[in-house]
Amino acid sequence: MTGVTLNKVKKSYGNVEVLHGVDLDINPGEFVVFVGPSGCGKSTLLRMIAGLEEISGGEISIDGQVVNQIPPSKRGIAMVFQTYALYPHMSVYDNMAFGMRIAKESKEEIDRRVRAAAEMLQITPYLDRLPKALSGGQRQRVAIGRAICRDPKVFLFDEPLSNLDAALRVATRIEIAKLNSKMSETTMIYVTHDQVEAMTLADRIVVLSGGYIEQVGPPLELYERPANLFVAQFIGSPAMNIMPAKITRTGETTEIELKDGKRLEVPVKTPEGDLGKSASFGVRPEDVREAEEGEDFLFEGKVSIIEALGEVTLIYIEGELIDEDPIIVKLPGIHEGRPGDTMRFAADPEKRHLFDEKGHSYLYR
Ligand SMILES: Nc1ncnc2c1ncn2[C@@H]1O[C@H](COP(=O)(O)OP(=O)(O)OP(=O)(O)O)[C@@H](O)[C@H]1O
Ligand SMILES: [Mg+2]
Repeated sequence: MTGVTLNKVKKSYGNVEVLHGVDLDINPGEFVVFVGPSGCGKSTLLRMIAGLEEISGGEISIDGQVVNQIPPSKRGIAMVFQTYALYPHMSVYDNMAFGMRIAKESKEEIDRRVRAAAEMLQITPYLDRLPKALSGGQRQRVAIGRAICRDPKVFLFDEPLSNLDAALRVATRIEIAKLNSKMSETTMIYVTHDQVEAMTLADRIVVLSGGYIEQVGPPLELYERPANLFVAQFIGSPAMNIMPAKITRTGETTEIELKDGKRLEVPVKTPEGDLGKSASFGVRPEDVREAEEGEDFLFEGKVSIIEALGEVTLIYIEGELIDEDPIIVKLPGIHEGRPGDTMRFAADPEKRHLFDEKGHSYLYR
């Protein structure tokens, strides 16, 4: 099994540096997902691992061997792109066999691998068709099948599902999850914008921003214990509500004051020296509930918009607690609120997050 190691990997285009020394250890057989805003360097990193992009600094190792100078075809890697790039005049079978024919594999071996991959992806009935006679999702499965046939040690995916409609995305995502469990020896690195893909497919998620890694960890660790404000607001949807606060008591647990003067406890440890400093208080929309009659509430405000989605209701609250955006509350099911109502909300202590002046979570200090 094959691991991938990035050691201070840098990339510059001309004199603009877009990756600033990325360190990452990907374990053999692991499924790692890269997420981050557009332009943060996800595709560049993937293409450097594939060998399609030169490395400006640092080292990339595959299976313990530095590959900086090794051409793409010799790295044991297969890559699936957002656009599937099938040969339009070749049947599905020939598209999948193409690379192996170039590599002069035997006819029997080619047939064995094409059929095995087609079975795995449930595209056997389409082997004789041309790509134009397939749906987008089927075409993307052919592109994945073609990559499987190369028997890669490392499988790279760059937003493979982003051209598919919602239903096909779900179906193909589930195919990829199954593929991952069948190819448990193969290391997979997957780039996506889709939170659900990241959360459900990843063994570990790598959050990138502006050419740096912000945090690496299992999906639920990033969700429950984000290392900083960026990750807190990037993972989870709608994003975590962040309110400016001041630290009014430090120690094993902390007391803070919100902008409206309300004081509350956060069960994290803060150093004495941070007394009086500004901080950011965070609470996820789904971790807020309506306060019971007489309960000590966390915040109150006027409802500006209500979005009823059926399974959940999103309530946008106006108030002075946040500088610009409204506070968003996500309540289960259908809710009988109206714009203009004043509502009070509570959140359990363990669902409260606190970040220091620089935006680092106090959990990691
Ligand atoms: N060939 C190039 N020449 C110059 N700059 C480039 C080139 N390719 C990418 N960049 C720049 O490098 C940065 C990272 O680009 P990259 O494509 O890796 O982003 P990304 O995270 O994949 O974004 P997206 O989510 O939009 O696909 C961007 O600022 C981009 O403009
Ligand atoms: Mg990209």
